[in-house]
Amino acid sequence: MTQEQTTENSSAASNAQRFEQDLHQLPIAALDVAQPDLFSAGFAPRYLARLRHEAPVHYCAEGRFAPYWSITRHSDIEAIELDTETFSSAHANGGITIGSSADDPQFFPAFISMDPPRHATQRRVIAPAFSPERLAQMEPQIRAWCAEILEALPRGEWFDWVDRVSIELTARTLALLLGFPQERSRDLIRWSEAMVALPGHPAYTTPENKMRLMQECFGTFDAIWAARLETPGGDDLISLLAQGEETRHMPKPEFYGNVLLLIVGGNDTTRNSISGSIVAMHAFPDALQKLRADPDLLANLTPELLRWQTPIAHMRRTATRDVTIRGQHVRRGDKVILWYLSANRDEALFERPDDFVLERPNARRHLAFGFGVHRCIGARLADLQVRTLWEEILRRIPAFDVAADSVRVPSTFINGYQQVMVRLPRPG
Ligand code: HEM
Repeated sequence: MTQEQTTENSSAASNAQRFEQDLHQLPIAALDVAQPDLFSAGFAPRYLARLRHEAPVHYCAEGRFAPYWSITRHSDIEAIELDTETFSSAHANGGITIGSSADDPQFFPAFISMDPPRHATQRRVIAPAFSPERLAQMEPQIRAWCAEILEALPRGEWFDWVDRVSIELTARTLALLLGFPQERSRDLIRWSEAMVALPGHPAYTTPENKMRLMQECFGTFDAIWAARLETPGGDDLISLLAQGEETRHMPKPEFYGNVLLLIVGGNDTTRNSISGSIVAMHAFPDALQKLRADPDLLANLTPELLRWQTPIAHMRRTATRDVTIRGQHVRRGDKVILWYLSANRDEALFERPDDFVLERPNARRHLAFGFGVHRCIGARLADLQVRTLWEEILRRIPAFDVAADSVRVPSTFINGYQQVMVRLPRPG
């Protein structure tokens, strides 16, 4: 072990000790769940459980992202997402994550950061790219890639599942969706990571370098846009934006914002559902056994996986007027954090919420895709990727090992893994 690794391990251990103490000893008013290290240490679900039980509408006055409200119960989050007049996603009001702000100089507008009615006009344009018909066309290609990726994995030695499987399948699928050259699919990942990485993440970079990467990304998509205008008729996402009545004349920053939304929206999310799936199947071997015995259970795999993993830990809204929730007075302009990670473990709705239960009857009530008008437009595509991958895994991988020391992402937004080491049996 290097000296650097020893130092990292001991600081992780002292963090864990501090988090454990804080969880039990801090008064509820002083609890700050929005600490990236809390997420990488795997403590966030326990902090959120305390909020859910003791203060489901909780005000955090001090901390890196404070002040902010935490909403932790499933029913409250659903109600807030339906009331888009009171709880805004608009960038001008503050945006959609705990760290976003209206005066971010590197912000580009996209429809996820818009309120009705404008939001719907843009969403409608790209919706056909995710229609059941279009996904049925994509399915054979995604299946062939799943097989190819799995066949190429080493046997009898440890490898990183995140890089070899989760990122690889996500990158290829995103490129297909966008009509982007397959041989450059990893550029999409590189750009997307640099856009959202927070300090502590390996992809975190200086504002200057981030700007340089953005220019590289925008320059490439400018060329694709020009080509689509010249040769219309395609059904990829950029073709749809270039042909859409509402979008073909949109200002350049809005085009860039929507490109970023699509590459960021489809990257960490799908990746972490795939990474979470191997972790879940290893942690709950009885679920895997049931799946092998009864492949019909595959239909419930993605919903239960998304409930259990919750790749996006939260979305943020901003109150547009004073409002009272569960007796708490939220003021106009306050930041309201919807913790999906908590809603998906809400014992009022889900029995044994921390367990992965493949045949859970109400797994589809999970909020991992959000709820209401902004509910994820890529939900069906995410399901297609996870389901197809597992169909192909069940066909050709009889057993696997997952190392205990998976590395989690230090982020309050992306709930996932940087590294998951996996070993497959030697052939024969
Ligand atoms: C919206 C999660 C896959 C594109 C969202 C939202 C969440 C989410 C939580 C916001 C909902 C809200 O504000 O209420 C996920 C998860 C995924 C996934 C967990 C995978 C497991 C994808 C994929 C794409 C995509 C594959 C396509 C490239 C989008 C877009 C929006 C969105 C464009 C904005 C929708 C709107 O504002 O109307 N997603 N997503 N997502 N997602 Fe996904």
